[in-house]
Amino acid sequence: MTSTWTEPSNTATALLLLGRGSDPATERGVDCPGDLPAPSDPGLVERAAAAKAALGDRLFVLGHHYQRDEVIAFADVTGDSFKLAREAAARPAAEFIVFCGVHFMAESADILTGDDQAVILPDLAAGCSMADMAVLGQVETAWETLTDLGLAGDVVPVTYMNSSADIKGFVGRHGGVVCTSSNAERALRWAYEQGSKVLFLPDQHLGRNTAVLELGFALGDCVLYDPHKPGGGLTPEQLRDAKMILWRGHCSVHGRFTLDSVNEVRSRVPGVRVLVHPECRHEVVTAADEVGSTEYIIKAIEAAPPGTAWAVGTELNLVRRLALAHPEQQIMFLDRAVCYCSTMNRIDLPHLVWALEELVAGRVPNRITVDAETAAYARKALDQMLALP
Ligand code: 13P
Ligand code: SF4
Repeated sequence: MTSTWTEPSNTATALLLLGRGSDPATERGVDCPGDLPAPSDPGLVERAAAAKAALGDRLFVLGHHYQRDEVIAFADVTGDSFKLAREAAARPAAEFIVFCGVHFMAESADILTGDDQAVILPDLAAGCSMADMAVLGQVETAWETLTDLGLAGDVVPVTYMNSSADIKGFVGRHGGVVCTSSNAERALRWAYEQGSKVLFLPDQHLGRNTAVLELGFALGDCVLYDPHKPGGGLTPEQLRDAKMILWRGHCSVHGRFTLDSVNEVRSRVPGVRVLVHPECRHEVVTAADEVGSTEYIIKAIEAAPPGTAWAVGTELNLVRRLALAHPEQQIMFLDRAVCYCSTMNRIDLPHLVWALEELVAGRVPNRITVDAETAAYARKALDQMLALP
């Protein structure tokens, strides 16, 4: 049997299959000009603390819940992507916002903050594979298809926060809204007041889970648009009949939790509560007891009576921290085979120390900026999100 190899997807950071060569451009920007401290340096904690103290109120450090413990220790605020976007917008006095999270979050922070504020991502390689699954050119092609079919006027684009500024700009230009995992239901309800169909980018699972479990849609109301196929791999009738057009994107971490892992933990731990993030597959979310954003997951466990058992389906850094913080509960990771989010983990203490010490030295490293036109449209879609009832 001959095997044919097809090109990896044409996203900006397409990964090459092992043994198929190398692409030096995929890791562009990871260099740290100056001195990146060695991870073994025993003085890293003191150096980070000293640099933070030297910067004082000029600095504000945001930390997403999926960050490593060593980084979370220096965050002024921790949160899910919605809370962090609001926190960034609420700090006009901070000259430097160091975003310990991933690239799309830092872009959103730049859009929501003033021109005199610099948003810094300690490692430029901290991207998001899900965000890379929707590239502006692909989304414009999809929109042309909908326009040619006479449908675009009925469609409201909604993008998950986990998307590039380009995509948020596209959504803002076409009257849509950004959502996060903690407000997807409200964003979709708003969108269906504006039009009869939604194009949901780029996470098919969050879109499907919210449409079916929160809005009461049938699975058949949703179609899956594959950007690598002509017409998305859908017939004009399918596009015409659909209420929800889901982009074929997913999270490479949450997409790995399976129904088997839910069944397995239920048989092993009687009475266990299964708590998952809405980026998980539909059958996993349907089989779980509770579903919610990272902030929701934390609050659910904090509010639970001692002695309860939880199997949590989200990124491992957060689950580990919850297990350590709540010895009165039995907290376990839903699936032993799922690993950390590799891009969230790019931000480590050496990169944080490097970024903070550069700032102390009067240099602004790894500044994330979004061009003015994209930012203006993206801001429209973000503001629409922040204004949701
Ligand atoms: P939330 O923080 O909004 O729950 O999102 C999770 C996530 O995957 C961020 O990358
Ligand atoms: Fe992206 Fe998934 Fe990592 Fe979040 S957990 S940053 S969605 S790859």
